[in-house]
Amino acid sequence: MPVLVTRLERFNAGHRLFRPELSDEQNLRVFGKCSNPSGHGHNYVLEVSVEGHIDPETGYLFDLKTLSGLINERIINDVDHANLNVDVEWMKGLNPTAEVMASTFWDRLEPHLPEGMLYRVKVQETDKNWAERLRELK
Ligand code: NI
Repeated sequence: MPVLVTRLERFNAGHRLFRPELSDEQNLRVFGKCSNPSGHGHNYVLEVSVEGHIDPETGYLFDLKTLSGLINERIINDVDHANLNVDVEWMKGLNPTAEVMASTFWDRLEPHLPEGMLYRVKVQETDKNWAERLRELK
């Protein structure tokens, strides 16, 4: 019987959502308050879920300390207290929406986990808004 295990991490980061070819007014129409040219920050919540079978010897699916270490090493250390538009080498040129972040974070983690184990990466920007990238259903 497969189980799902989730690790939650928090980080603070600044961003501005915009397309450089649009005016500030057009960007405001598309991206709302997140397009503010002076930038702003969010207290992000990142959830990473892995799925698979319980190891009968440990009772674990995957050691959450190991998962936490991986999330910190591959993501949090680079994005915490960063400006996502300029400070993070592997996010350069990306528009840092929650959708783009969830997808980019997935790509940062997936090669470092046992094959097929990553199930869901969720990036929560506010109490009411989040985005998730999910493994394709089997
Ligand atoms: Ni924003």
